[in-house]
Amino acid sequence: MIAVQAAKKREESLDHVLLYGPPGLGKTTLASVIAHELGVSIKVCSGPTIERTGDLAAILSSLEPGDVLFIDEIHRLPRIVEEILYSSMEDFVIDIVVGKDTGAKSIRVDLPPFTLVGATTRFGDLSGPLRERFGIVHRLDFYEVDDLETICKRTAGIYDCPIELHAVSELAKRSRGTPRIVNRLFRRVRDFADILGDGTITLDITKKALGKLKIDDCGLDRKDREYLGTIIEKYRGGPVGLETIATSISEDPQTLEDVYEPFLIQQGYLSRTPRGRVATEKAYKHLKKSYQGSLF
Ligand SMILES: Nc1ncnc2c1ncn2[C@@H]1O[C@H](COP(=O)(O)OP(=O)(O)OP(=O)(O)O)[C@@H](O)[C@H]1O
Ligand SMILES: [Mg+2]
Repeated sequence: MIAVQAAKKREESLDHVLLYGPPGLGKTTLASVIAHELGVSIKVCSGPTIERTGDLAAILSSLEPGDVLFIDEIHRLPRIVEEILYSSMEDFVIDIVVGKDTGAKSIRVDLPPFTLVGATTRFGDLSGPLRERFGIVHRLDFYEVDDLETICKRTAGIYDCPIELHAVSELAKRSRGTPRIVNRLFRRVRDFADILGDGTITLDITKKALGKLKIDDCGLDRKDREYLGTIIEKYRGGPVGLETIATSISEDPQTLEDVYEPFLIQQGYLSRTPRGRVATEKAYKHLKKSYQGSLF
């Protein structure tokens, strides 16, 4: 808020912003909020779709002064595009090569000052030089239960759907700290309330619905339990490599790492060691398995 207000006061473009963290925590939403607060337009694109330097040049030269350019999955920008981006971010110029071989020459095009907002779930995959060109870097973290309650109540208001306060708490508690999930579960539970009840989301209906959806008291879903269960049962609690677990449960390793693991680690069910993943005592307890302690 301070950075946005300061940029507005000075009538400058806001420094470039990098937002990173697990999926569904509001990176894309926050990019729109920033543009809205600045009172400028936002242009949205995604790393893998900007294939050539010409694509980037076309996007950048279409911006109005002060606009926000949002690049989602910025870690997936092709290297050659990324290198062109450096000078655009730093000096608001872009060097384009036209022609081929001996006839090739580089022309420098001035760009309007703009704000790049980059989002990624994989901060570590971003190259050092790109990371360093962002002046404002924020990691989005899982939400606290009471924040999710606020979001859930607001969503219920938008849908004009009556909901009991205990039901709000239950949904918030089982949403893995994630706004996208609390909203999704809200919509599923609302279906149950409309079909099994009179449309009001009660605690009873919420519990019934979440039970049917196989979401347990701590918000873990079937895949989370399968993941932890596999480490415990097949690999004696670990350490075991990510690829090995992924193969065992037919899941893509990157999805496990980006979507499932951050919450499991944050909640203390899983730890990541140099030799592989290890299920913690809390995971054993949660899955009602007897814990013999780690041999390692
Ligand atoms: N603070 C919030 N209050 C209310 N709703 C929110 C909030 N943050 C996120 N949401 C909602 O959660 C959903 C997911 O948010 P968003 O798409 O911005 O997440 P993301 O971090 O960009 O996820 P991904 O990494 O998958 O792209 C959206 O529907 C958004 O409206
Ligand atoms: Mg997003």
